[in-house]
Amino acid sequence: MAPPQICVIGSLNIDFVTYTPRCPDAGETLTASSLAISAGGKGANQAVACGRASFASKDTQNVSVSMIGAVGADDPYYAALLRPTLEGSGVSTTGIKQMKDNQTGSATIIVDEGAGGENRILFVPGANYTGMDNAEAVLATTRDIHLEQGVVVMQGEIPRATTLGLMQHFNDPACRSHLIFNPAPVFTEGIPLSALAGTSVLAMNETEAVLMTKTVQEFLTLPQQTQDLKPEELAPLFHKHAQVQIVLITLGAKGAYYSTITGKQGFVPSAAVEKVVDTTAAGDTFVGYFAAALAEFVATGAPLAGFDAQIDTAVQKANVAAAGCVQRKGAMQSIPFAYEI
Ligand code: RIB
Repeated sequence: MAPPQICVIGSLNIDFVTYTPRCPDAGETLTASSLAISAGGKGANQAVACGRASFASKDTQNVSVSMIGAVGADDPYYAALLRPTLEGSGVSTTGIKQMKDNQTGSATIIVDEGAGGENRILFVPGANYTGMDNAEAVLATTRDIHLEQGVVVMQGEIPRATTLGLMQHFNDPACRSHLIFNPAPVFTEGIPLSALAGTSVLAMNETEAVLMTKTVQEFLTLPQQTQDLKPEELAPLFHKHAQVQIVLITLGAKGAYYSTITGKQGFVPSAAVEKVVDTTAAGDTFVGYFAAALAEFVATGAPLAGFDAQIDTAVQKANVAAAGCVQRKGAMQSIPFAYEI
């Protein structure tokens, strides 16, 4: 059996996080509680979640995880914060380009302590765009990673054109890898069905699910307003129009919904949480934990339909990990190792 393998292709950011009792109004200056500078980026967070999910004990890593992305060489953030956290979580960093005359991507995050740790995020792409603007060059970086019967994880924080090129490649059955696509943020210019078609897993929150139905270009003739649809009505649209194999819709504090093209579906309630301090990276934790479970399954060579028997357990475990994440401050630093949960 091939060793389970995950390759995350995506963003690495430095997060400037301000914790505040409430968000200021337009034109208002407010004294906030604290500021933290920490490692983040949806791609890197998900890579860390995949890595940490694969440590059943402190010394055993069940899944190999690699990160492909780009950072600025002229600022201290990669060496000081991002690389140590990735490597300490069992993630290979050899596919991360360090770009001269570029800034590492950044996110300015406001965490509203008065609203249950809810966040607002402003993302500046920096090297995530300039270093990832060529799909062929990105694919060349993946050639040393054995992705046949492996899992590729992507989000929306690298250029759209690169993302579409990579989706076409990884969704081609000849490629024999499984793509998990988390459209966060959703590209405003939309996604053609030809790129989405055959995606193994489409993982979204409720807002992203509605936006995806609107922005998948050939969905535009849908008969009804999709914002009124429930998860169990949204998911079949992706199965029917784009042959997406598994749809995951996270529902925040309520839990998560899943649906497979073979007809299995279910709601898994969220795990109990004492106090939510920061919801940043909860979605990334969910995606990474699910990816690790899927990687172990697809490495056996069994057809994806067989994962129906394990999907409920995989979603439950991803929910428990996300519940662990929201009880700690920060993005990737708040993601639990599997042996902690
Ligand atoms: O999903 C959370 C992440 O989104 C943060 O770490 C931030 O970098 C933004 O990209």
